[in-house]
Amino acid sequence: SKTVTYDFNVTYTTANPDGQFERRVIGINGQWPIPTIDIEKGDRLIVNLVNGLDVDTSLHWHGLFQNGTNAMDGPGKVTQCSLGPGQKMTYNFTINQPGTYWYHSHIKGQYPDGIRGPLIVRDPKGPYADKYDEEVVISLSDWYHDENPPLLAKFLSVGNPTGAEPVPNSALMNETQGMPFHVRPGRTYMVRLVNMAAFAAQYFWIEGHTMRIIEVDGEYTEEAEAEMIYLTAAQRLSFLLTTRNETTQNFAIVGSMDQDLFDQIPDGLNPNVTGHLIYSAARPLPEPAFVDAFEPFDDFTLVPYDNEELWGEPTYSFALEVMMDNLGDGANYAFFNGITYVAPKVPTLYTALNAGNLSLTPEIYGRDTNPTVFKHHDVVELIINNNDPGKHPFHMHGHTFQLAYRSDVDAGIFNTSDDSIEFAKMPMRRDTILVNPGGNVVLRFRADNPGVWLFHCHIEWHIESGLIATFIEAPDVLQKTQTIPEDHLAICRQRNDPVVGNAAA
Ligand code: C2O
Repeated sequence: SKTVTYDFNVTYTTANPDGQFERRVIGINGQWPIPTIDIEKGDRLIVNLVNGLDVDTSLHWHGLFQNGTNAMDGPGKVTQCSLGPGQKMTYNFTINQPGTYWYHSHIKGQYPDGIRGPLIVRDPKGPYADKYDEEVVISLSDWYHDENPPLLAKFLSVGNPTGAEPVPNSALMNETQGMPFHVRPGRTYMVRLVNMAAFAAQYFWIEGHTMRIIEVDGEYTEEAEAEMIYLTAAQRLSFLLTTRNETTQNFAIVGSMDQDLFDQIPDGLNPNVTGHLIYSAARPLPEPAFVDAFEPFDDFTLVPYDNEELWGEPTYSFALEVMMDNLGDGANYAFFNGITYVAPKVPTLYTALNAGNLSLTPEIYGRDTNPTVFKHHDVVELIINNNDPGKHPFHMHGHTFQLAYRSDVDAGIFNTSDDSIEFAKMPMRRDTILVNPGGNVVLRFRADNPGVWLFHCHIEWHIESGLIATFIEAPDVLQKTQTIPEDHLAICRQRNDPVVGNAAA
């Protein structure tokens, strides 16, 4: 293993990724799209971050467990003070998980403006390493012609009492209007897909070819065939693609935004982005078929490669109920169990590290952070009841969870006393999961990663409107094993944020 160092200065630049409109975007070192981070399992990643913007920033490494390094997780006011204009800090951690991840700003409403990129952890000794000849990364995303701060202001205003989310202007592939993917006949490629969207899930298919899924969200799967994949915002998936033996034809690679998410569909919206699998430059590029021509793959049918069974019996079980509604000011907010998240003044991690024995008491974290405390090694069962007519992709930091059960649309509240409901025996594990409109899911995880971890909807608009809870896992163990790096504390002091330093360790 080695150390890989990146010097990242977050700056504004301009771009026109859909060819329709040039605008200001947030890039790194004057470049956009931002770099793909490419490392190997076991490596140490060091990112020296400078904030060259006129607003706060931070970086989150989506899907990385940060086991032992909770302070490197990234969300502002949760595991660090937000990095103010002109400030510097270092992220420094080792990565022992192989797979497909991404990184993005974890300051309100910032990543849709461009600060989002793939993070690939290669696994030369992995179970599928000798099954393919080459690797390729394809990112999917959505794009807005307006910058996020004004869109957000409009979304959260009294002028939008129904909470209609802004609809993207375009879908992108590798942050552009589709990619040429030059292939050779009779070879096998490992394709890593990352959805970095602010909002839109995408259907994805490659015409004339079958995809063999081998990984989701950093967890290897048993090989499973799919003709079309559905990826929510923040999900990842890798598949093997074996090319044909002849070069007489090229094929469309299509990403298609799930328009069911949109409250209204603007005139002229093109939900698709089309790339091409190119066998021969001398042959024409075909037009894509329509999304209805394919059956989407159901991720609940996946089996983990290690055949790990459902963890039981839960020692801690709880439910979060999703609601979207107006508050007294007439604007729309989102709630878990009646609470709309408001960030604390002191980062929640710092509170956990300094509260002594009180750290196990949820009240000390403040009601508005929507805190739940788990004891070390709890087997946690989390039920999500989606009391909202929209789809939500829920994400948990610091873990993958087992997908024990997902109901159909409009099944209502999960009935804990209904014995006829069957859980998956060998559930797949993911870090982001789609919950159906009006439906529910049951997830399980082990509280074996002491830290402060957010749980939230990964639709950026819903993060803004408060659909976030805070999980505080084994804070007593955390106090004995982790401290806040000095350069992180310096950020808080320089900007006069309230902070308590490292307790006598
Ligand atoms: Cu992609 Cu809270 O994260």
